[in-house]
Formats: sequence, structure tokens, C-alpha cells
Amino acid sequence: MIELDDVSIRYGRHEVISPMSLRIESGEFFTLLGPSGCGKTTILRAIAGFVPVASGRITVDGTDVTDFPAEKRNVGMVFQNYALFPHMTVTENVAFGLRVARRSGKEISRAVDAVLEATGIKQHAGKKPAELSGGQQQRVAVARSLVMGTQVLLFDEPLSNLDAKVREDMRHEIKRLQRDMGFTAVFVTHDQEEALSMSSRLLVINAGHAEQVGTARELYESPATPFVCQFVGAANEIGRNVARVLGLGAGKRHFIRPEHVTLAAAGDADSMQATVTDVDYLGSMTRLFLEVLGEPLQCLVLSGAAVRNLNIGQDVNLNLVCERILSFNEPP
Ligand SMILES: Nc1ncnc2c1ncn2[C@@H]1O[C@H](COP(=O)(O)OP(=O)(O)O)[C@@H](O)[C@H]1O
Ligand SMILES: [Mg+2]
Repeated sequence: MIELDDVSIRYGRHEVISPMSLRIESGEFFTLLGPSGCGKTTILRAIAGFVPVASGRITVDGTDVTDFPAEKRNVGMVFQNYALFPHMTVTENVAFGLRVARRSGKEISRAVDAVLEATGIKQHAGKKPAELSGGQQQRVAVARSLVMGTQVLLFDEPLSNLDAKVREDMRHEIKRLQRDMGFTAVFVTHDQEEALSMSSRLLVINAGHAEQVGTARELYESPATPFVCQFVGAANEIGRNVARVLGLGAGKRHFIRPEHVTLAAAGDADSMQATVTDVDYLGSMTRLFLEVLGEPLQCLVLSGAAVRNLNIGQDVNLNLVCERILSFNEPP
């Protein structure tokens, strides 16, 4: 278990992380999600012991590690390029930390053997990193931390340099490895789809502030702030004119997700008239860019007969699924 208790972090005079408290349970796949520059890497580095905190405490499994150097914290960092030694074999890479710690040869070979077996890379033990796939390299990087007895692994955007297909395979790879090995993962990404698909829980960060902690479903269906609403998934902010027609409260901000804007039959008395301004065919789904009462609104629908022949400039009728409107007590 990792606990951050009122932790703030400064670079010089600049406070990049405002005081935040957070509790990550053992065995969780916990993700820090937020736009570039919001402070995700800084938080990871503070947990790892590479950056000092300005205030607050960090505990790992009940031990206050706030003043511990990185090597005493028992947390491992998995970097984007995996930082494997290219001239060493898999076995040598995994054994490296134990050699530096001056363990006996017998102990090293027993521990390395066990972790290579457990992480499923034993058959590649004699290969160099360049002879391995990305997924196998990832496993070596994880094995290298686990062999040291580390139960907490920190991942800083390990997938962000990969192309879409490999990336998706690697998500499953990391998830499976984490599930099989049972370590606690703290994963950083700015990619909301990656975050939603991988995590047991997530923290959304905005400019150094904790916005909301929750499961993917909680964040998506019940966002606590307009920022979370717009950063986790897509959301239309409902314009003044549409809000007035729907009788939505003034002085608040109202949002609706594109999949909750639906096309209606031509004669539907409750529907609103809209004009198609653009059509994005996405394969299984089609995104419609619409204009309603002079205000933009996006609609996401299955690519069926209803949208097959829609053209720019054409009029359609639409409904907003009112019970799915997300409202926030904040003046627009
Ligand atoms: N070593 C540093 N010195 C000063 N400012 C830094 C340093 N590292 C990061 N920052 C600043 O701290 C903020 C958070 O950075 P970072 O944690 O890297 O964000 P993220 O990982 O979410 O992209 C940014 O404004 C960044 O410019
Ligand atoms: Mg970063």
C-alpha cells in the first residue's frame, strides 16, 4: 500500500503539485491520468525517491519513506525505453541488481531463475534485448525489479512511443503480468483510453491538482468536475440556446456525451432540428458534427442505415438523453 498524505512538491519556488492525499492499495493497478505537464512524472519520481517533497509524508506498506533514499524504498521504476543493458543477456540484465548488491552466486541464480520462470521469459534467457519483442523487453524490465523483492512498480508512459496495434497488445501484456505477479502498479499516461482500459482506479490530475479518484466507470459516468467530464471521454458542453429549450438551470454548466445525442424520427414532436456540418466515418461508429440553434453539438452513432446517406448541409432530428446530462454548479 502506498499513501500520500498532504504531499506537495516544488521545483525551486514553483509549486508543481498542490497538497494531495492518496491511498493506493496493494495489488492495485492505479493510474495517474492528466494532460502533459500536469505533474504525473513528478508524483512518480517523488514516490520513487528521486524528487523530495516540500510538505507531507509518503508511506509504503506502513513505513514512512519520505526521507529514505531511492534505493531503500523498495519501489521499482519501469521506463519508457525499458533501460535494459543492450550488451547483456536477459539473465545478466535481471541479475544485475543482485550482483551490485553483492549477493552470492548461488542465491542470484536461484532468484533469477525463479523470476524468469514466473514472468514467462525463461526460454529467452540467453538472448540480448535487441533479439526480443517489445512485450518481452517489458517483461525483462519488470523481472529486473521483481527479482529485487520489489512489490511496487512505477510505469511512466511506457507505451507512448508505440504504434496503435502494438500499444493495445502491450496494454494486455502489462495487465496480465500485473495480475499474474500480483505487484502494485502505479501507471502514468495522458491517454484516457489507455487509462480507462487498464486501471482498477485512476486519479485525474489537472495542473498539479487532484481532480477526482475513482474507477473508470465512476469517472466517466459521474465526473466530479467539468475538467474530468471533458478529459475522460468526449463531452459536448451544451450551449445557452439548447439549454434554454431543454429547461436546464441557468448559472450552471451542462454537458452531454456524444453517444447520448441520438437521431430521432422525422415526426418526433420532442426532437430538435439540427443541420449536419460534418460527418466522420470511423468504421463501426460515425461521428456527426451538428448545428442546433446556432450551437455546435457532436453525436456518435453506430454506422448503420440511419447515417449511411447523411450529407453535409442536410437537416436531421435529434434527441438528447436528458437523464444523461451532466450538470455542474459553476457559471458558464
Ligand atoms: N526538473 C524540473 N525543474 C523545474 N520544473 C520542472 C522539472 N521537471 C518538471 N518540471 C515542471 O513541472 C511540471 C510538471 O511536470 P511533469 O511532472 O513532468 O508533468 P507530466 O509528467 O504530467 O507531463 C511542468 O510544468 C514541468 O515544466
Ligand atoms: Mg511525464
